[in-house]
Amino acid sequence: MILVTGGTGLVGSHLLYHLALLDEPIIAIYRSEEKIKSTKNVFSYYSDNTDTLFEKIQWVQADITDIPSLNKVFEKPVSKVYHCAALVSFDPKDYKKMRRVNIDGTANIVNFCVSHNVERLCFVSSIAAVGDSINGQLIHEENEWIDAGDQHGYAITKYGAEMEVWRGSQEGLTVVIVNPGVILGSGFWQEGSGKLFTQVYNNFKFYTEGVTGFVDVNDVAKVMISLINSPIQNERFILVSENKSFKEVLTEIALTFDKTAPSIKIGKFLTEIVWRLDWFLTKVTGKTPLLTKNSARSSHHKSYYTSKKIQQTLNFEFMSISKSITSVCEDYKKDL
Ligand SMILES: NC(=O)c1ccc[n+]([C@@H]2O[C@H](COP(=O)([O-])OP(=O)(O)OC[C@H]3O[C@@H](n4cnc5c(N)ncnc54)[C@H](OP(=O)(O)O)[C@@H]3O)[C@@H](O)[C@H]2O)c1
Repeated sequence: MILVTGGTGLVGSHLLYHLALLDEPIIAIYRSEEKIKSTKNVFSYYSDNTDTLFEKIQWVQADITDIPSLNKVFEKPVSKVYHCAALVSFDPKDYKKMRRVNIDGTANIVNFCVSHNVERLCFVSSIAAVGDSINGQLIHEENEWIDAGDQHGYAITKYGAEMEVWRGSQEGLTVVIVNPGVILGSGFWQEGSGKLFTQVYNNFKFYTEGVTGFVDVNDVAKVMISLINSPIQNERFILVSENKSFKEVLTEIALTFDKTAPSIKIGKFLTEIVWRLDWFLTKVTGKTPLLTKNSARSSHHKSYYTSKKIQQTLNFEFMSISKSITSVCEDYKKDL
């Protein structure tokens, strides 16, 4: 039996869709009934057979930080685990919570996998847990992640979570790790990269010239399934289709929506003022910040990744970012 954590999020919901097309029984954990609807909505983008596919999933209520609830999950004969659950935030006030969910939660999943003799664990990490470029070379899986006091909370906790997974591998668990770039996908329009589509649709005017790796969510799901069903073990793989600037991606989304491309460049100096202003406003209003020091600074950073390892290992060809943007924009308009 397959277990999926984070099945009510962007990656997990798409992974569940691809798994439901196959034959193995699936259980997925959830925290609130409301969020299960988002997963069903994702299925509806890709199939007219939503109900039949969705019924293949057995949902069990559990929290990865709550051992008794995980005990109930692992009473089932789980043989493969896809661990996608995490708290993704750039807000410093979420740091402690991120440590609990991302590091302690992953440690719990690893411990249950080890004690229940689970065959294989596939963990979704991030490029945030891969070291930066050396001498201007493309960033690859062997680049060492170093915290010289400049890493943000999300990166620290994703790296910490990877350490728990590697510890599991030392205890006999067979693991594979994927490190995706910014994941583009449909259905979660107020969170993560989904917010980019919402902002551009609402005529967002600003851009920065930072560069990072982007990948389509369906490619992430397909690679995860291929890896867990392969003999590959104890390896990690960067998943990036293309390295692009935020300006390029925002412009392409705008043009696909038939909107005006963002035209106001936000330089580093202005961003430094804006995040401080936003920080002050959130202190006064108590609202979630739109821009934090971390998200502001990473929006200017230029990082170029290579996915040669996964391309050669699985002979995998990534969907182009243009094609991904076209498909996500179509789904966005369907949901309007
Ligand atoms: N999105 C990206 O661009 C991106 C890029 C690289 C790596 N990643 C990684 O990919 C994974 C999935 O990200 P995503 O974009 O799908 O995130 P997401 O849409 O925010 O989904 C997160 C999922 O984790 C679940 N979760 C959070 N805390 C939990 C807890 N304590 N117990 C059980 N479940 C919990 C959420 O459940 P609820 O629905 O109940 O909140 C949700 O299903 C994460 O590990 C993330 O670090 C994401």
